[in-house]
Amino acid sequence: GAGNGFQTLVLVKPDAVQRRLVGDVIGRFERRGFKLVAMKLLQADRGLLDQHYQHLQQKPFYPALLAYMTSGPLVAMVWEGYNVVRSTRAMVGDTDSAKAAAGTIRGDLSMHVSRNVVHASDSVETALKEIGFWFQRDELVAWECGDSQYTY
Ligand code: TYD
Repeated sequence: GAGNGFQTLVLVKPDAVQRRLVGDVIGRFERRGFKLVAMKLLQADRGLLDQHYQHLQQKPFYPALLAYMTSGPLVAMVWEGYNVVRSTRAMVGDTDSAKAAAGTIRGDLSMHVSRNVVHASDSVETALKEIGFWFQRDELVAWECGDSQYTY
């Protein structure tokens, strides 16, 4: 499960890019103190999404999910920090935006599960796999800021 995982994958989904919410989402992770170590804007293709959502391919909503996730570019990011996998999931909120608590990304910015603004890896194991789907190893940047507040 999600323990002290130190990197996680976050996707700012196409609805959020179209609604100009990329900065809002990134700002939340920055203000929490997490470190951005990879980021790119891309148009996801079906092959990548089939890998990413392997566990959902038999679901009735999968065709609609694919159409949504390919409706425009998305922003893929890797965030690093103490307990980042679990903390990021808490910041994102319930999968169903209608149930997501106020203060979470989905609870503040979305009303429906089919347009739920962001993805965040749900466990350390999943994060490792998902980072590998979306990024080449040399796209991750190791950097230090020298402030002991961010040493973990
Ligand atoms: P899932 O992996 O269950 O949730 P999460 O994104 O919180 O890890 O589902 C992946 C995405 O599939 C979800 O973010 C939105 C979409 N989805 C639907 O469109 N309808 C649904 O009923 C569910 C469960 C998910």
